Amino acid sequence: MRNPQLNAHGELNHLLSIDGLPRDVITHILDTASSFLEVSDRDVKKVPLLRGKSVFNVFFENSTRTRTTFEIAAKRLSADVINLDVARSSTAKGETLLDTVDNLVAMHADMFVVRHAASGAPYLIAEHLHRTGRDDVHVVNAGDGRHAHPTQGLLDMYTIRHYKQDFANLTVAIVGDILHSRVARSDIHALTTLGAAEVRAVGPQTLLPTDVERMGVRVCHDLREGVRDCDVIIMLRLQNERMNGALLPSAREYFNCYGLTPEVLALARPDAIVMHPGPMNRGVEIDSDVADGPQAVILSQVSFGIAVRMAVMSILAGN
Ligand code: CP
Repeated sequence: MRNPQLNAHGELNHLLSIDGLPRDVITHILDTASSFLEVSDRDVKKVPLLRGKSVFNVFFENSTRTRTTFEIAAKRLSADVINLDVARSSTAKGETLLDTVDNLVAMHADMFVVRHAASGAPYLIAEHLHRTGRDDVHVVNAGDGRHAHPTQGLLDMYTIRHYKQDFANLTVAIVGDILHSRVARSDIHALTTLGAAEVRAVGPQTLLPTDVERMGVRVCHDLREGVRDCDVIIMLRLQNERMNGALLPSAREYFNCYGLTPEVLALARPDAIVMHPGPMNRGVEIDSDVADGPQAVILSQVSFGIAVRMAVMSILAGN
């Protein structure tokens, strides 16, 4: 069966998911990101790798970090960046996703960065481009429903590698609403592919997928047990917008059971790092003393996201 992420030569043509990406491809993206990190420190923060190319940011869901860092990354690669204002686009008049794509291709789009509430929307676009003979146009999944957020997974791996060097001896806890989290799925696929020693999925029964153990994680319903002796703790937001009905008694109750406080963090390794993809809900999944404390690397994740997204776009464009 054709792998929708690869072209006829077996090269990465779209980035749709970390699931199925070989370890050497992930490592190549992280290594390439390292080479782009210093571009942000230059007086002239630009390299010409995407000069003359048009990158279309098409976000059907809200975003602060992903949309903005993709725009910065594309501009640092010297691309022309077009941010489609979806709320004011003809989507509101009933134009379909694929008709919108066809029109943007007619405007000479070279790359789409797509966020959509529907799981699989970026796959639909990639398949449509293939069927219409436009494999030269690339698609990057910037988050689809609860399915995948591959560049967040990659920037999380970049952050972990930056602070911990090697994955082989690491214990990583992913805490919170894993059921609705595309970040959790991407992180789990990346961590297991990169050989993390142990990945724990920590949360209440109602917020864990029933088959999560099949992804190679250890399930913990108790937060203290889940973070004990961890090297890395990844906190997740309650994704209320994707919940059907109440899965929790209250936010206060949730914080009491699953909120990361300094007391709970003290159970992890003394040099443990705390990560969060954002946006954070302080006082719901994380205490401000932790979020702003010395072990938090949450804003470093955002900065690394620029280099990682530069790497992804550069590799897709064939550099
Ligand atoms: N982490 C993340 O996807 O944040 P945004 O929703 O702000 O892009």
